[in-house]
Amino acid sequence: MDNKTLTNTSSANINIALIKYWGKKDELKMIPNCSSISITLNKYYSKTTVTYLDNLDEDILYFNNELINNSDDFKKRVVRFMNQFRKLYNIKLHAIIKTENLVPTKAGFASSASGFASLAKAASRAYNLNLDDKSLSQLARLGSVSASRSIYNNIVKLTTNTKEPMGPYSFELARWESLRVIVFNTVSEKAISSREAMRLALKLNSYSLWIENTKRDLLEIEKYIKNKDFVNFGKVIQNNAIMLHRLINETGINYLTNDSLKVISLIEKIQSTIPIYYTMDAGSVVFGITESRYIDQLTKYFNNNLDDITYEILTIKNGELD
Ligand code: PMV
Repeated sequence: MDNKTLTNTSSANINIALIKYWGKKDELKMIPNCSSISITLNKYYSKTTVTYLDNLDEDILYFNNELINNSDDFKKRVVRFMNQFRKLYNIKLHAIIKTENLVPTKAGFASSASGFASLAKAASRAYNLNLDDKSLSQLARLGSVSASRSIYNNIVKLTTNTKEPMGPYSFELARWESLRVIVFNTVSEKAISSREAMRLALKLNSYSLWIENTKRDLLEIEKYIKNKDFVNFGKVIQNNAIMLHRLINETGINYLTNDSLKVISLIEKIQSTIPIYYTMDAGSVVFGITESRYIDQLTKYFNNNLDDITYEILTIKNGELD
């Protein structure tokens, strides 16, 4: 390489899963047991700068401007990712990595998705590798499976139906600009990581049923996305989330709080009159999925009924990829 500074800053937006992945076939290669579908959201993202230096013998990590030490779990994950990346592309250099989450504090979004997606972009671009989006989605997956989907905008599918050496990849499945996501601020500290919780779920007898149901949900939702059939689309999403949290509960873990349940019950009360459906990832935050034409009515309804729970309305990220 020449003496030009090898540095790059890249960003990636958050995504929420509509049809969830839960459980890996291979933890080392980060192969999920099942395909998944998500939407990439506007406004909140992670930004990462990677700078390779030839005098470093280990990676240095800053998270939100704070130096992270080697015993920290997040640092270990990042180093593991960087080691895999270096091995794949035969890179010898270590780097200074500065990553930031531009997501409101404690908003409860799965920031590992946007974080590892922005790291995959910055790490490869700083070395001038010029990877295409598909390869970036395979690389990001090695950091966090859901990060693979944050490489793309709009509605995204991570498919496991592949024999590629780099494994599953994501792609933009469809666009649906009128979709809106209402993020209810029902945040609480996550008690157990999704990685740990997935390991427990794999041991359950009912795990195979979850996989079967998810495969059916994937087939159905693709049909509804194609026809822009919002009501049936919403029903599949909601049911998939309910099934996931039931499976999680069977392992003795509960991510939902009283506030989450309150929002869920308000959504269930109104959804036969105004189409809105809910989903939750591995946390207590409830996401309401609706269409732009229902926002005025829904705002009135939630303002009258939510008391002290706040919410925010987000749109789908579209347009050019970063
Ligand atoms: O990729 P992870 O480890 O952040 O796990 C994601 C788990 C879910 O958000 C619940 C599902 C998904 O497909 O994103």
